[in-house]
Amino acid sequence: MVAPLLRGCRAVLVTDANLARTPHPVRLEAALGRAGVRVDRLLMPAGEASKTMACLAGLLERMLALGVDRKTAVVALGGGVVGDLAGFAAAVCLRGLDLIQVPTTLLAQVDSSVGGKTGVDSPRGKNLIGAFHQPRLVLIDTAVLGSLPPRELRAGYAELVKHAFIRDRGLFEWLEGHADRVLAGDPEARAEAIRRSVAVKAAIVAADEHETGDLRALLNFGHTFAHAYETLTGYGDVLLHGEAVSLGMARAFALSVRLGLCPAADAARALEHLAGAGLPVEPAAGLRARLAPEAVLAVMRRDKKAEAGAPAFVLSDGLGRASLRRDVPAAALMAVLSAHA
Ligand SMILES: NC(=O)c1ccc[n+]([C@@H]2O[C@H](COP(=O)([O-])OP(=O)(O)OC[C@H]3O[C@@H](n4cnc5c(N)ncnc54)[C@H](O)[C@@H]3O)[C@@H](O)[C@H]2O)c1
Ligand SMILES: [Zn+2]
Repeated sequence: MVAPLLRGCRAVLVTDANLARTPHPVRLEAALGRAGVRVDRLLMPAGEASKTMACLAGLLERMLALGVDRKTAVVALGGGVVGDLAGFAAAVCLRGLDLIQVPTTLLAQVDSSVGGKTGVDSPRGKNLIGAFHQPRLVLIDTAVLGSLPPRELRAGYAELVKHAFIRDRGLFEWLEGHADRVLAGDPEARAEAIRRSVAVKAAIVAADEHETGDLRALLNFGHTFAHAYETLTGYGDVLLHGEAVSLGMARAFALSVRLGLCPAADAARALEHLAGAGLPVEPAAGLRARLAPEAVLAVMRRDKKAEAGAPAFVLSDGLGRASLRRDVPAAALMAVLSAHA
């Protein structure tokens, strides 16, 4: 599937140190080799700490040292970190190389590999430096999820069900009956869930590619809260991104109910589903002090999507529907943050 799309017969495969301990890179390289593609592998350290300008510069220098040309493709094999960094390198190396995304986490399969956003973090904040660079192909092999730690799998599930919450009530209802099988590794259930979730994201991106309207912003459901929680917990193992998103979606549902936008029964069903999938809907006892309402509010006011200090929220209009709101009363927000603290 990859080889016919390439402009030349050369590719640079970018992957991380954890993936290098799985059979996935060797299998991909062998398959590309059989299709007549010469592949050089470039390794980067695993984890969010690698999404930096320094790491990008190092990657670009190694690509140039290999003598890549305009017809060389970049193949990103990994989670969202590899996809974002290798994708950005592809966007700027020789003013743009073809990119193939081969996502290996559930999060990357349903979310980060699709939509063309690439980039790195700045010390001033996450994802502040980047480019839109659409992949020529996103190749999803559900079998690679077999080596993914279960906690990472559940975190990715939060983004999978997010697409159902904002746009596809039918998918949510299907997931209510099939989440166990999706999480346990049933290949058909997994493929169906990923296909339908990714279809939601792809349709939104196709309609609002560069987030010029409010449509693409709907993908940030739960994320105004999540980004604040991640900032306060340091973007690491304390709270994985998907876990922060699960907490954030629970808050967004509560706020939506409080503002009369979402039926309480829909919100209750959503929270029950998240909890049933092993995702947090309340901060763990040990995190409550760090995630105090005042601290969360202060971070939200500095969010890059806040306009004049007023954070924007994607709120639920009932299961399967959402809208962007810039006029959330501070008192309602404080009440929701405090109710759970
Ligand atoms: N570009 C976008 O639109 C977009 C959207 C959402 C998230 N993101 C970005 O994605 C990143 C998070 O992505 P992630 O959750 O995939 O994290 P990640 O890339 O750090 O992967 C999670 C962990 O799993 C390991 N891993 C990956 N695949 C594996 C496999 N098959 N088997 C065993 N281990 C494996 C990785 O080495 C890493 O330790 C964040 O930087 C976030 O900003 C980008
Ligand atoms: Zn997210």
